[in-house]
Amino acid sequence: MNSSIIVAADSNRGIGRNNELPWYLPADLKYFKAVTTGHTVIMGRKTFESMGKALPNRRNIVISRQEDLHFKDAAVTHSLESALSLCNREDEVFIIGGAEVFRQALPVVNTLYITEIHHSFEADTFLPEINYDEWKETKRDDRLPDEKNQYPYSFVIYEKY
Ligand SMILES: NC(=O)c1ccc[n+]([C@@H]2O[C@H](COP(=O)([O-])OP(=O)(O)OC[C@H]3O[C@@H](n4cnc5c(N)ncnc54)[C@H](OP(=O)(O)O)[C@@H]3O)[C@@H](O)[C@H]2O)c1
Repeated sequence: MNSSIIVAADSNRGIGRNNELPWYLPADLKYFKAVTTGHTVIMGRKTFESMGKALPNRRNIVISRQEDLHFKDAAVTHSLESALSLCNREDEVFIIGGAEVFRQALPVVNTLYITEIHHSFEADTFLPEINYDEWKETKRDDRLPDEKNQYPYSFVIYEKY
């Protein structure tokens, strides 16, 4: 099983503000959907609650320390390891945030899908610093702003050396 992080981050590694995304970038939402559909997505409880409901056409697994937490449309586990162990037979599983879960996942994943947004936003939640000596860039797709997407951004994939 390949485990991957997928995240959008600004030029200061900001990823969230007030439990929401700091930006509106529909091209990134479309990319996220295309990459993750058909796979399992693993997320922290705060990210799940900020979305309001499970992502369709994906198995949703939520990580929480609360023993009695249940959702009708998502499985709940109590550690990242137990979430990953539910996905042993899958080809690729996606860890989709937020910051607390990314911090734990960064040392164990093989692939990073990062939408690098070339702009700085006010943020209260950040991606941990990534040591790029450990990661090989295998794909980069640079995009300019257009009428629907106000900021320049790049879809980048890194694989662990
Ligand atoms: N830009 C992006 O790509 C992106 C992606 C996702 C999220 N975000 C943003 O990130 C922010 C949320 O991130 P966050 O760091 O505050 O929260 P989070 O990582 O989504 O969720 C944290 C919660 O997950 C549970 N948890 C984490 N580690 C655990 C462990 N080892 N064992 C058991 N439970 C564990 C705990 O839930 P309990 O409190 O229930 O125990 C914890 O409070 C929001 O602003 C969101 O919009 C951005």
